[in-house]
Order: sequence, then structure tokens, then C-alpha cells
Amino acid sequence: MDLFAAEIELLEKSEDRELTLRNLLYPIKSEFRFIFIDCPPSFGLLTLNSLIASESVLVPVQCEYFAMEGLSLLIKLLWRIRGGFNETLDMEGILLTMFNRHIALSRQVADDIRRIFRSKVYDTVIPRNIILAESPSYGKPAVIYAPNAPGTQAYIALAKEVLNDNSLLF
Ligand SMILES: Nc1ncnc2c1ncn2[C@@H]1O[C@H](COP(=O)(O)OP(=O)(O)OP(=O)(O)O)[C@@H](O)[C@H]1O
Ligand SMILES: [Mg+2]
Repeated sequence: MDLFAAEIELLEKSEDRELTLRNLLYPIKSEFRFIFIDCPPSFGLLTLNSLIASESVLVPVQCEYFAMEGLSLLIKLLWRIRGGFNETLDMEGILLTMFNRHIALSRQVADDIRRIFRSKVYDTVIPRNIILAESPSYGKPAVIYAPNAPGTQAYIALAKEVLNDNSLLF
């Protein structure tokens, strides 16, 4: 509800509404190695603000058919933003998630995305793992609730991969 209210408030602003988040983050940016902004699954003003405030975008993609369509729309949107508000916006990486190796469609979507986006796709794949859905109901992150679960281990591997990709920064 807070984010819904924020979207309305942004709509009512007369100027710089797309730049609000960037302007707010600017003075504190240097205090952090990473700032993660979790976006809604829609292309409203909140997402636009996030993409304009960001240096790069990490895109989680479910290994399902409609996710492919969403991905190509997102790529088009990123190009538009690069052509306008944020020329240096980069694609950090594409993360295959909800992967089920027993389902042919899941394997096929993962293969297709790797074939098209190649090195932009993380080696780490997040499997469909009920532990990841359960842990919030215990009020705990998966790394505390079930550190050895396959889904948790995959997220730890992802964190290492992201850090390695960014090692030149440190
Ligand atoms: N790898 C996974 N295996 C099983 N369940 C998962 C997995 N990843 C996420 N889930 C479950 O799916 C649901 C949605 O996950 P999540 O909130 O991460 O998605 P989202 O795309 O960010 O959703 P929203 O659009 O609401 O922000 C949650 O119930 C979560 O626990
Ligand atoms: Mg979410």
C-alpha cells in the first residue's frame, strides 16, 4: 500500500518525477558497495525511477514461456531508457529461476535464454524449491531457515558469482 501511495505521489509531482529516486540516492551512494532496488513486476513510475537511479539491472526470469515474452519487452524498455534518461544503464545479468529439470519446458526456456543472451546469463540457476517459499512464513531468510537446502545453496552461489563479476570494482 505504501508503494501504491508513492506511485500516486510521484504522479502528482510536477517536475523530475522520474528522477526522484536518483536524486534521493545520490548523496548516500558512495557509502555503499551495492544498493539493491527490488522492483515491482510492472513498468510504472516506480520501476522507471529505479531504472533511472541504477547503474545496472539484474533480471530474474522464470523458466516458463511467458517469461521469455516479458524479457524481450524489458530489453526494449532498457534500450529506450538508455536512449533517454540513463545512457550508461547496463545489464548486470539474467538469472534463471524456478528451474525444474524434470520439466521439458523449463529446460527448453533455460536453453533458449542462454542461446540468445550467452554470457549475460548467470551460470547459477535457482531451482524450484519449496524451502524458498516456506522460509518467509517463519519470518526468516532462507540462509537462516534452511542453509543447506538446494534453493538456499543456489542463492549463495549466485551471491559469489555476482561478487566475482564485480571484483574489479574493489
Ligand atoms: N525458486 C523458488 N522455488 C519455489 N518457490 C519460490 C522460488 N522463488 C520464489 N518462490 C515463491 O514464489 C512466490 C513469489 O516469489 P518472489 O516474491 O520472489 O517473486 P516476485 O516476482 O518478486 O514477486 P512480486 O512481484 O510479488 O514481488 C513467493 O511465494 C516465493 O516464496
Ligand atoms: Mg518481488
